[in-house]
Amino acid sequence: MVSEHAAQVLVASNRGPVSYSLRDDGSLDSKRGGGGLVSGLSAVEDKLWVCAALSDGDREAVRRGRSEPGVRMLDIDAEVHADAYNGIANSVLWFVHHMLYQTPVEPVFDAEFRRRWASYEAYNRAFAEALAEEAGEGAAVLVQDYHLSLVPGMLRELRPDLRIGHFTHTPWAPVDYFRLLPDDIGEQLLRGILGADRAAFLTRRWADAFIGCCTEILGGTGRTRIGAHGLGADAEFLRRRSHEADVDAWMETLREQIGEGRRTIVRVDRTELSKNIVRGLHAFRALLEEHPEWRERVVHVAFAYPSRQDLAVYRDYTAEVERVAHTINAEYGTDGWTPVLLRLDDDFARSLAAYRLADVALVNPIRDGMNLVAKEVPVVSDDGCALVLSREAGAYEELGEDAVVVNPYDVSATAAALHEALTMDDDERAARTKRLAAASTSLPPQQWFLDQLDALRTE
Ligand code: G6P
Repeated sequence: MVSEHAAQVLVASNRGPVSYSLRDDGSLDSKRGGGGLVSGLSAVEDKLWVCAALSDGDREAVRRGRSEPGVRMLDIDAEVHADAYNGIANSVLWFVHHMLYQTPVEPVFDAEFRRRWASYEAYNRAFAEALAEEAGEGAAVLVQDYHLSLVPGMLRELRPDLRIGHFTHTPWAPVDYFRLLPDDIGEQLLRGILGADRAAFLTRRWADAFIGCCTEILGGTGRTRIGAHGLGADAEFLRRRSHEADVDAWMETLREQIGEGRRTIVRVDRTELSKNIVRGLHAFRALLEEHPEWRERVVHVAFAYPSRQDLAVYRDYTAEVERVAHTINAEYGTDGWTPVLLRLDDDFARSLAAYRLADVALVNPIRDGMNLVAKEVPVVSDDGCALVLSREAGAYEELGEDAVVVNPYDVSATAAALHEALTMDDDERAARTKRLAAASTSLPPQQWFLDQLDALRTE
């Protein structure tokens, strides 16, 4: 049944724009999230955002009927959700698209995998059914990411009248790697996305990889149109936010911790396996080894915020980041100089302060859908910042020309790139930062979203 107040624009994603936590006294606290999708969507009025309850607080909010206008949170059984989100989306699909497996021992597709896959199907079905219920006649539905790959196909069957889009925020695996998946599962994923009228990606490269998989495995993409929309940084918001008092205060604090007159190499990431933080630290160590003139004169500011801590490999990776940072500090540190300033707690104002004062930004992921840090730093930088950028980040397509580009696996070359970036002359660095900032902001989040909506409705 289609509801009375049927929406004309709907968005579906695992993580929604709001989250709840239970206070000690039993009341609920709500918190609004950030990110490209949240700002992108602010351009559209009268939309409905369908998302999953992710925590006990969220589930309690759903049960108490505490919904924000424009948001419908689905109370999917906690175990089904955990199997779908941790067991499939984060442990299988994320690994495939970022090519993270150690293939001599993994992946293993067995009965346990099939059990989790059934949960992934059930979770996708819950979304498809909710969207079918909420969408007005002919409405546009924009389904987000690898969590919800099966939704377009399922929804198409329930509601053939809808305009359905799917957007992938990660890279897409090349066909030989995609084929690690069991054949029927690979086909089901592709057909799920091809249930959409339009499937879109962050770069041409990921779109082409998807087309490659469809062509090899299914013989084509059928009637689904394929597009690329390179999400940019939100210049207006960043410039304003990065000059608020808390950011200024963090600049003071960081300057003190870094020490007078020293250069800074800054990185800011969620601690994901694809971000390559450990090789980044090894490259910094190699820089100190091969260019001893930098000892005492440079600090590596590394902010590695927690992500997906339910997964043991993520916890182990975080521990490895800490271990390597401590080793470098023990080996090279002196009384007045701590070579690596590692912080593991999430603080947005502190990140902006680091962006402002960075001499060099290190963005060296193994593989990344886009990487917005690479785009945010040049926008916010006070005096210009050289960007060391992995050629495997989506952002490379737009920023490669003015960055110092690296192969993320090549630690020696990354060390050499850091040296080159540190020694770039001031005028050159300022000119490049200006061009990087322009390229980074050419498609602001709101336009990014409106373009997709337009293309879905009119093409
Ligand atoms: C990264 C990816 C997105 C993904 C998100 C999910 O930001 O680039 O593609 O949707 O992670 O993060 P979560 O914390 O919800 O697992």
